Amino acid sequence: MNMEEKRAPHVLIFPFPAQGPINQMLKLAELLCLYSIKVTFLNTHHNHNRLLQFTNIQSRFARFPGLFQHESISDGAPDDHPRPSGFLPDLTDVMKMDSHLRNFILNIRDDLGRSPVTCIICDGLTTFAIDVANELRIKSIAFRTISASCFWAYLCYPHFQDDENSDEKALTVPGMENFYFRRRDLPGFSRQFRENPLFSVSVLEFCIKETFNSARASALILNTNEDLESPFLAQIRTKFQKVYAIGPLHSLAKNLRTATKDQTHNHNGLWEEDRSCLTWLDSQPPKSVVYVSFGSITVLTRSQLLELWHGLVNSGYRFLWVRRPGLVSGEEDSDITTGERGFVVKWAPQEEVLGHRAVGAFVTHSGWNSTLESMAAAVPMICWPNSADQPVISRLVGEVWKVGVDMKDVCDRSTVEETVRYVMGGGGGEMGRSTAEIADLVRRSVVEGGSSYSDFQDLVKDLKSN
Ligand code: UDX
Repeated sequence: MNMEEKRAPHVLIFPFPAQGPINQMLKLAELLCLYSIKVTFLNTHHNHNRLLQFTNIQSRFARFPGLFQHESISDGAPDDHPRPSGFLPDLTDVMKMDSHLRNFILNIRDDLGRSPVTCIICDGLTTFAIDVANELRIKSIAFRTISASCFWAYLCYPHFQDDENSDEKALTVPGMENFYFRRRDLPGFSRQFRENPLFSVSVLEFCIKETFNSARASALILNTNEDLESPFLAQIRTKFQKVYAIGPLHSLAKNLRTATKDQTHNHNGLWEEDRSCLTWLDSQPPKSVVYVSFGSITVLTRSQLLELWHGLVNSGYRFLWVRRPGLVSGEEDSDITTGERGFVVKWAPQEEVLGHRAVGAFVTHSGWNSTLESMAAAVPMICWPNSADQPVISRLVGEVWKVGVDMKDVCDRSTVEETVRYVMGGGGGEMGRSTAEIADLVRRSVVEGGSSYSDFQDLVKDLKSN
């Protein structure tokens, strides 16, 4: 191998083993390949196999010969581990992946047929990868796949603990002064989050620790943009050497695909997509259907599911509901029928569903991917946040961006019915205007001259400057 080849940028992308991060990082991988940067995408064995089984990842990336490799390492858990809550193993197992990662990188370095890794883009929740990179003298960049507002909330967490305000009073936190954030709008003060029985460590403490640890990387990538979250980005920039705000990544990727006349269907899911719902949507009137999905991790109780179902049915609107395997804890939910107006799938092609003319509103758990996809498609949201960043995001959706209604902790059948009717009825006029404005703002950020577009160009320069 000649010296020129050795210096060629080779980025190792290492996502946290869950649907949200994998989805975003695969989009980043595709974008980097479009800019002729070599990428090794490193998954856990389990997720690697699911992607091979359910997506077109191999044929899709075949258009980048010599630039893309999809590989895998152990996630530390035994093969028969149930990997609850989506495909996450226990958080403590994830932390043990550092030796597998180190060996993987060393093997590449020792392989004369392969160019060495020049930068690790790791998930901001697996910061042990930054330590591995430092030890091996490789540049590292942390990519956190949550909103900037939530990232900042984690950094401010010690401040919140001292705050004596009640749940309803506004918090006085730098960057958040202009928004009416209450304790119940913060991660960790929400239901199910502080003590998640699925994990043996506190998820909140883990997220906060990893957020502070991310500062050890040379830069931070966030899937957001200046127009949406500038006050929070300004605060984060006081603590991090360099921040690239390159979102929404799905819009940026779509824009570059259109520019290169690329028609490839991009499915990054760990479940098999059921495209029959698109045919069903084709036969529905414009803006007549409520789309319902709670992402890849949220687990509902049977009584929560029933309240939602009654609320949807009583609203009188048609609905398309994603009930992925494991969505409902404990008992079977198969006895809950959809009636004439409902259509249920296990996993939908969500971006296409949100872009369909028949969809008029989105009942969502306010995961960051879902929120960005809904904003880009100008679909108003009915938010029922569950955990992690979701209470922060739903507050911004309802109070700041005004592109939906935040139901927060309340989800009884009458609230669901009333909120669905309000949003499907136009949300008092203002919501329609805001959703159109935000969609336009998002569109402009990812085209030449836009903030995300230019941050992405800077990231590419950074990766090429070895
Ligand atoms: C997790 C966290 O729960 C969330 O709070 C955080 O912001 C990101 O990581 P998840 O719960 O899976 O993510 O939700 P979300 O961020 O909304 O991501 C779900 C992704 O799955 C979206 O990209 C969505 O398009 C996709 N999806 C979901 C499908 O493709 N089909 C479906 O049927 C449902």
